[in-house]
Amino acid sequence: MVRLTVGVLASGRGSNLRSIIRATAEGRVPARVVVVISNVSTAGALEIARENGIEAVCVDPKNHPDRRTYDAALVEVLRSHGVELVALAGYMRLVGPAFLEAFPGRVLNIHPSLLPAFPGLNAQKKALEHGVKVAGCSVFFVDEGTDTGPIIIQAAVPVHEDDTVETLSDRILAEEHRIYPEAIRLFAEGRLRVEGRRVRVSR
Ligand code: GRF
Repeated sequence: MVRLTVGVLASGRGSNLRSIIRATAEGRVPARVVVVISNVSTAGALEIARENGIEAVCVDPKNHPDRRTYDAALVEVLRSHGVELVALAGYMRLVGPAFLEAFPGRVLNIHPSLLPAFPGLNAQKKALEHGVKVAGCSVFFVDEGTDTGPIIIQAAVPVHEDDTVETLSDRILAEEHRIYPEAIRLFAEGRLRVEGRRVRVSR
């Protein structure tokens, strides 16, 4: 089986990373995570990578004067591992134009809302405060905006009367863990085509 080489960028606990690694290990997704990079040395995601025998790299923003040189350092690590697809998974920095040019149409992200609603930070809190009855998550191709790129897959969950940010986030997260590996599978199988804002999925 030809497997797509994936690099994951993560800043936090890494539960989406874990779900991607599991899906690849179980053969549900024809891909292999070859490197995990974080801007945070204590990120749980780096620990998960090491536990799974995957190279874990911290690229510290403090060692780089600006985003351009920081992104160039990321690109170098990803290229040196032969990465074909970059998956952002709870990566809390914006990626710049030079990064996107290095991986055109090859950077995915996941966001805990039904985009274009509630982009940016604290999406679940914003959804609750807005009073929506349905929330969810979206996997999309990254472009230069914040959570604005073409959407690949979305999943919806109900908002319950007694929900807190935590209970709603947990319900959404369970769907994130399902749709992110699924989106990577579709990409790896060469079934995604972007037409303007629409992502066409071929059979
Ligand atoms: C997820 O909710 C994801 O949608 C958002 O950040 C969170 C990351 O969680 N972008 P984890 O680190 O994958 O557990």
